[in-house]
Amino acid sequence: MRRFVIVGRTAIASGRFLPKDLPGTSGRLDVLLRCIRAALLVSHGVRRDTQVYLVLLGGEEAPRTVRIDGATAKFLRPDERSLATLIAKSLGAPERGAAGFDEVRPGVAIARGGLECVLEDIGGSSRYVLEEGAADLREVPLNAESCTFFVGDHLGLDSAALEGLAGASRVGVGPVSLHAEDAIVTVINELDRRDAAGRRSVATGNGPPGSE
Ligand SMILES: C[S@@+](CC[C@H](N)C(=O)[O-])C[C@H]1O[C@@H](n2cnc3c(N)ncnc32)[C@H](O)[C@@H]1O
Repeated sequence: MRRFVIVGRTAIASGRFLPKDLPGTSGRLDVLLRCIRAALLVSHGVRRDTQVYLVLLGGEEAPRTVRIDGATAKFLRPDERSLATLIAKSLGAPERGAAGFDEVRPGVAIARGGLECVLEDIGGSSRYVLEEGAADLREVPLNAESCTFFVGDHLGLDSAALEGLAGASRVGVGPVSLHAEDAIVTVINELDRRDAAGRRSVATGNGPPGSE
């Protein structure tokens, strides 16, 4: 299982934003939506062995975390607008007061809480923080069977998050500061290349015709 955790320092933790003006109304949730696409979607398919966590730290309802499971999520679309609608509906779903992650739509679960909920959920998965200037991913041994990568948003990871991840390995993906979604793609490409079975993790069929 591969997991990607994106910490949105300002991303709004409620569905009250305008899909037409995501950057201006959502605390830059758009950055995190692009990470969903990068981590979970391939051409005509979904990575079934991957989960994405969006830690939402913006707005009055924060902290909340959305978990999207490629194994069971339905009708994921690559465009930001569709992903924004999915996240807005999920955040607006009635809460049942369950502890931890509560599935509100197929493959989409919400937790009241931030990074601590994620760390509990991922259990013993090997932890890696994507950090500029850290040891090159290509030179680092990775636990490809069970790995979790923590990624910052447009502002980078805050000190509280870094403190919570003190025991995690730091890895870099090259000499240039990338957008979060591009850093994720670079990691996935390295994992795919190391995966002897290659495409075994990718399943096609993501809802009705029309998906790219
Ligand atoms: C747009 S960057 C954040 C830039 C921010 N100014 C900072 O200093 O962290 C978003 C995230 O992508 C990841 N990232 C970007 N470039 C990277 C690189 N070359 N190596 C490792 N991680 C990188 C980091 O997790 C970073 O927090």
